[in-house]
Amino acid sequence: MTDKTLRMLYIGLNSKLKQGQVYALTIEFHGDLSEGLNGFYKSRYTTSTGEERIIATTQFEPTDASAAFPCFDEPAFKATFTMSMVRDKDHISLFNMPLKSSTSYGSNGLILDKFNTTLKMSTYLVAFIVCDFEYKQKISGSGTRVRVYSQSEQVEDTPFALDAAAKIIDHYEDFFQVAYPLPKQDLVAIPDFSAGAMENWGLITYRETAILYKDGVSSDKDMQWVGVVTAHELAHQWFGNLVTMEWWNDLWLNEGFASYVEYIGTNFIKPEWKMLDQFLYQTFQRALVLDSLSNSHPISVPVSNPAQINEIFDNISYDKGASIIRMLANYLTDGIFKSGLTFYLKNNSYGNANMDDLWQALTQADAGHGDTNVKAMMDTWTLQMGYPVVTLTKDGNKVTATQQRFLIHPNGKASTSEFKSPFDYQWKIPFTYIQSDGKNDSMLIDSHSVDITLTGSPTWIKGNTRCTGFYRVNYDTANWNALIQQLGTDHSAFSSADRTSLVDDIFHLARAGHVAQTKALDLSLYLKKERNYVPLATTISNLGYIGEVFIGRDGYKLYKQYILQQLSDIIDEVGWNDTGTHLEKLRRGIVLGEANSCGHEASVNNSRTIFYEWMTKGTQVSPNLKYVIYCNGVRYGGEEEFQFVWKKYQDETVASEKRKLMAAAACTSDAGRLKRLLEWSTDESKVRSQDTESLISYVASNPNNGRHLAWDFLLENWDMLKKRYAADINMIGKMISKIVSGFSTQEELNMVTTFFTTHSTKGFGTRRIDQSIEKLHTNVDWMNTNEATVTKWFKDNVNPDKVPKMID
Ligand code: BES
Ligand code: ZN
Repeated sequence: MTDKTLRMLYIGLNSKLKQGQVYALTIEFHGDLSEGLNGFYKSRYTTSTGEERIIATTQFEPTDASAAFPCFDEPAFKATFTMSMVRDKDHISLFNMPLKSSTSYGSNGLILDKFNTTLKMSTYLVAFIVCDFEYKQKISGSGTRVRVYSQSEQVEDTPFALDAAAKIIDHYEDFFQVAYPLPKQDLVAIPDFSAGAMENWGLITYRETAILYKDGVSSDKDMQWVGVVTAHELAHQWFGNLVTMEWWNDLWLNEGFASYVEYIGTNFIKPEWKMLDQFLYQTFQRALVLDSLSNSHPISVPVSNPAQINEIFDNISYDKGASIIRMLANYLTDGIFKSGLTFYLKNNSYGNANMDDLWQALTQADAGHGDTNVKAMMDTWTLQMGYPVVTLTKDGNKVTATQQRFLIHPNGKASTSEFKSPFDYQWKIPFTYIQSDGKNDSMLIDSHSVDITLTGSPTWIKGNTRCTGFYRVNYDTANWNALIQQLGTDHSAFSSADRTSLVDDIFHLARAGHVAQTKALDLSLYLKKERNYVPLATTISNLGYIGEVFIGRDGYKLYKQYILQQLSDIIDEVGWNDTGTHLEKLRRGIVLGEANSCGHEASVNNSRTIFYEWMTKGTQVSPNLKYVIYCNGVRYGGEEEFQFVWKKYQDETVASEKRKLMAAAACTSDAGRLKRLLEWSTDESKVRSQDTESLISYVASNPNNGRHLAWDFLLENWDMLKKRYAADINMIGKMISKIVSGFSTQEELNMVTTFFTTHSTKGFGTRRIDQSIEKLHTNVDWMNTNEATVTKWFKDNVNPDKVPKMID
């Protein structure tokens, strides 16, 4: 008897089992190669001579090992695995462990590969591949054989990942003080792959964009992504593979941890990328955004079936998980944090652990130093959802710090959340602050309100120094004014992390109604002087929220004028030569992208000129300018430009280039073309199914009505999409959230809620849908409250003489 929801097989027995007796269960099992992207599945590619090649590969996490072989498919049932594979001579086979022997098999020229038995491990980490790939190899400092495998025509694009992997393995051995336990580590570029990468022990599988870097073609951002993904999956080799969560409710232990350590690993190979600053822009802010919804969930949640398990691979497990681990590391200090991790890994090697085991190991490391009750503190961050805003009210040199749960939509309808807080939404907050005179202090806020006595009489204080804590900080008006004044006169008085957090906090506090929206805009005036990538990108993205909900409204043009006025100097400074440091290149991409999308005439003309050179003469575009130029060539061009880019997309074999071309096609301003893209997105002869969701999302984010076109497409194809993604239940939820989250009118809200009350979403990602609808509500209310004031603020603060020339 089988249970489809639980994916369990019940085996009835004729007689009772006896305790202490050993039984052997033999199951005959037959499975076909799956056509989807999980289990043991087929992936295809075409060589430059037009030959189609098929490979077979696996993706088991979280619950698909049992689709490939009979097993107790749960993380706590660790076992050793012995593998043999039969293949033909044109292929090779790969497994978690090295090959032991190859002998001929039968009379048809087949070959039998036998592999060494694995160490004790969980089923979801087992992997095997049959392919015709080639590899490049390095030996790590301590002797691990590291190889990167790819299609033979792409093997020249593997050295960056190979070098990164070898160095990061060495670094992690030193960081964790635990040796990498396997004799080899393979990294494999798979042409069809659902996630970004998968940490199978000793046999990491990747989407091609996450591992292949082509010199002169791929961008710095592409290179950074390869570094980050590699550092992430390698972190799992210890955290996840050697020590595994007991059950999926603690998935965040795996993913949150790897999402934090990926920054440490990448920072080790490329210190000049300043990854620890970039953490804020990438990971931290995303977590704060999602966790400010009443439809969020606690980091640690009960899950009991595959659908629920899949659903928690979300920004809470990853990004909030990473952010609270970072907070704890900063609180305990690096040395103690590291030795706690070593205890944890050593105590639980080849076994399973839950979060209390981690807290216990860190407490053990802290004993005699800070003597922190790690569990008491961390439970307040993991067992209740959300996070606090700490409000500082200054009276002379006395400051009162009060904590309160931060909700982006505090007056919104209380959600029907299934989660109750065991701590009444109060947290134990490692609080820090700096003063204008350079003094600083820290304390644990563990009650609703705490009084702080300042030393001296600073003109301002700034809470959450370097933004290491997972909370927002609000201030009384006088202190906000002093902070804004400081940013305006000399912003370098704050570290770039502090500037980043001031911007991100005030904009979200304004959205939630804690401070006036105009105050946030006043603060954004300092953007004119900001030159640092992370705070600059953060400010642009916060202003971008206004742009997104203003599309089609009277204020939209003023918004674009304001952005261009504030960016005019830096637009000229960065120029169009793809030179400078890594961060300068990332910054140029953002600045010129923004200039183009706001209609900066000189930039648009530049994009179009370079695009034509490329289209008509084949002049190559510099890697870091590609996206801006391709996109704006299409946006401001016609059918010919669109066709050109789409044809390039079809023919291109370099994955990172292909992705840029796809994104660029979706920049078209023409509804008919956008509709064609939507049709093509589910046509497997044009778009790999791994990329459907991205293409639909790109279309949805197109300011020329893309969201409505994508929504219509979703409705028209609802049944087909549901069927297509039956095995990948996160996919539809992700698509919906990309489409719906930017709507901002009452009609749109009605349209979306009506749909979801009449169409069943049972069985996939309902939490993502609830979250999207909550965001939509927030947008509608934000517009009602703020549209007029913000439009007026733009009018008052845009000086037409200072706005560079714009196209209409
Ligand atoms: N374990 C995941 C891969 C995964 C994701 C398996 C979802 C099953 C369901 C892997 O470690 C991972 O997190 N990959 C990330 C990349 C990373 C850099 C955040 C991904 O695939 O996006
Ligand atoms: Zn991961």
